[in-house]
Amino acid sequence: MASPTALHDTVLATFASAFGGAPTLVARAPGRVNLIGEHTDYNDGFVLPAAIGVATLVAARPRADRWIHVTAADFSGATSSFARDEPIAPDAAQPWADYVRGMVSAMRAVGHAIAGVDLAVAGNIPQGSGLSSSASLAVAVGTALSALNGLDLSPTAIALLAQSCECDFVGTRCGIMDQLVSARGRSGHALLIDCRSLACQPVPIPEDMAILIVHSGVVRGLVEGHYNERRASCEAAAAKLGVAALRDADLPLLEDARGHLSTVEHARARHVITENARTLQAAEALRAGDLVSLGELFAASHASMRDDFAITLPPIDALVAELQALIGGSCDGRGGARMTGGGFGGAVVAVVPKDYAAAITHALTYRTPAGAAPLVMVEQAGPGAGLV
Ligand code: GLA
Repeated sequence: MASPTALHDTVLATFASAFGGAPTLVARAPGRVNLIGEHTDYNDGFVLPAAIGVATLVAARPRADRWIHVTAADFSGATSSFARDEPIAPDAAQPWADYVRGMVSAMRAVGHAIAGVDLAVAGNIPQGSGLSSSASLAVAVGTALSALNGLDLSPTAIALLAQSCECDFVGTRCGIMDQLVSARGRSGHALLIDCRSLACQPVPIPEDMAILIVHSGVVRGLVEGHYNERRASCEAAAAKLGVAALRDADLPLLEDARGHLSTVEHARARHVITENARTLQAAEALRAGDLVSLGELFAASHASMRDDFAITLPPIDALVAELQALIGGSCDGRGGARMTGGGFGGAVVAVVPKDYAAAITHALTYRTPAGAAPLVMVEQAGPGAGLV
């Protein structure tokens, strides 16, 4: 995986080879790992993600004409072009470019004038891993275009535009977590986000705790259908419970209404209600440096994603079980593991005492479906988006 310096060199080289010369600015937006609070964001609930060290870089230079050209290092320098003042359509041949097209479209829709520009993109977030490579691309584009067009948008405004890019242009009806933590992340901290008010409370990550991210090697395929279906079930359950969002429901209300909900709606709602409670407890446990409680909450979260929300897969359950057993055996239960992100593949997050991170990584026998050792990243919480 490219180091930050190598990534910066790559984006400059990609820019020079496509457009000649140097960019005016380079924007950076990080990926994220969600510690806990899965599928709660679009239910107006709570999440506890952290920005991480891998990121997407966007190099940009204004053009005098009406064209927006974008090229991507990670897609062999493929290019997508569109006019800034005409209706913007998706690019069927270059679907990655839809996060750029969608971002410009979202910015224009709220009245921001966007000038012609040359853009080069390079990233080192493993794609399809549940670490938000797409949200970070949209946030990096927003950060670059805000600066270049003198818009002075706040990180939250950029995050909301990036969410609209994904929901209205790309077609995944995602929540706000990924974009908000990419835009507002803070070094050394997770963010407890209230997804209704968008208030972000930084929660310090204990010095002696390591965050391990283990990629299962199961790449998320075309899961937008599953994702949107989960969201629709949650909305149907909320309507039947008579609340604005599942954030406003509790278990007694859910049990009283059991007869009115389908079995699936009941299970989906139970995940969201219990996950919201776990997320608030996990923020307290993190603040207190209580890795044992955090581990128990991680285990309950994974079980709920597997049994009630049905978004895990057998290889991911096996990887989580192995990590849980290693943590139980070698660190006296200080720490835990769970799948992170939207589900149906991607990465698992584990928290462990720092001194044990290397031993646990070594001891892992899990193999990806292709038979390889999994990619393991030992991450620290890094800063949110900005100009490099
Ligand atoms: C994806 C979405 C987020 C969130 C997570 C699940 O990452 O983009 O909004 O819903 O899934 O927690």
